Amino acid sequence: MDKTRCRNNLRDLVDGGDSQMARDWLPKIHQILDKLACPYIAVRGNHDPSAEYFYSVFERKDQFDISGVRFLIFDDPEQPGFCASRSGNQISRFKSARANFNGPIISLQHVPLFPPGMSESPYNYINAEQIIAEMKKYNILMFISGHYHKGIGHIHSQGINFIASPAVCVLPFKYMIIDIDDEKVTAAVDNLQIPSELGLIDRHVHTQFAYCSENMDVASILKIYKDFGLADVVFTEHSGQLYFDKDSFWTGQCYVKGLVGIEENVNRMPKYFELIKKNNVPAESIGLEVDFDYAGRPMIRAADRAKARFFIGSIHKLEEMWKEPVDWKLVEEEYLRRTQAILENGVNVLAHPFRMFHRSGSGVKRDLFEKVIKMLRQSKTAAEVNFHSQEAEAEFVEMCINSGVKLSLSSDCHNMYEVGELWPHLKMLEKIGVTNNDFSRILL
Ligand SMILES: [Fe+2]
Ligand SMILES: [Fe+2]
Repeated sequence: MDKTRCRNNLRDLVDGGDSQMARDWLPKIHQILDKLACPYIAVRGNHDPSAEYFYSVFERKDQFDISGVRFLIFDDPEQPGFCASRSGNQISRFKSARANFNGPIISLQHVPLFPPGMSESPYNYINAEQIIAEMKKYNILMFISGHYHKGIGHIHSQGINFIASPAVCVLPFKYMIIDIDDEKVTAAVDNLQIPSELGLIDRHVHTQFAYCSENMDVASILKIYKDFGLADVVFTEHSGQLYFDKDSFWTGQCYVKGLVGIEENVNRMPKYFELIKKNNVPAESIGLEVDFDYAGRPMIRAADRAKARFFIGSIHKLEEMWKEPVDWKLVEEEYLRRTQAILENGVNVLAHPFRMFHRSGSGVKRDLFEKVIKMLRQSKTAAEVNFHSQEAEAEFVEMCINSGVKLSLSSDCHNMYEVGELWPHLKMLEKIGVTNNDFSRILL
């Protein structure tokens, strides 16, 4: 069997039983989980609403197979001390699940199960030994639970993997990734919160004014960014999206027209600054992602520029890339000419430097990295490390570090869950060999 991953939510989804608040939240959580690109399984916990209501929101499934792995889902009765028990009828499901099935079988439920005396978990099944004996008999691979916020981790005993994952709902938002590779099981815990001692600032944060915003909200971002380990955020809405309507922006017409094409009844720049003011955004957090037109002119009026403190410069469309057939030499010439224009216009950061090449699938040559780094050095502009809808290039990042070009680690978030999501950046830097002591030298 290949490595298998899917997502299980084994925690209480809400905390409030059948209270109106909990009942109102459950469908919202269902909507959020439905955005997952992978299969997911929701398991009812002791703080969730009653089974009747829970399974009117989430489909009740007792068993299903994903990639050759059989998942059994249990909703066992609670016992005193927040423990649980499993009835004989339910235990017999191990036997029926094993009939005519040789692959791995996993038991999913809310309350953890451990061989008595083998874990510090205050919660367990009151008939643990009976359950474990039956699991051994039918070669059940794993028993995965939640419930205990601290989590217990992974205990391998008697050929069974007993796993209790920590709670994602409390700081530092821990989660667990379990890998199954043949019969070998590994479980690793990670945090959604980045280490706050690094003092990282997310300098590419979108707002509800982005046409590509999924659910961004300035007020909510200001409430949560510190919880995710960020020292600060900078709001950087696209100037092209604020000045022009959706159609002009997405078709690239705005880059043909430039600033002279702005129609005042469409211009949302004043509303952007109203939103910033209404939310008391501190001056140093007011920024813009400045688009540049095809002629290389910044799409930002002087009066608007004066209202912001921080600027990232971007290319979102290359004119030559849209011609048939594409002449890649001309594409590169246009890219370098417009990148030079961005860097001559006093932006703080060159945003997502090679994104257009990633999107086209053409890849980027080392030669182009060298040319851009030379321009960044001359203009003393930082390069953005950006993983939004693309992979940042480790080779380019390493070359920037070696050339003294500063880096800006940014999420480019268009969905609230992406705010401060700088783990891919940190993991890339670690791979390159950057240590925490290097951060003040290499980061903007
Ligand atoms: Fe962008
Ligand atoms: Fe952006």
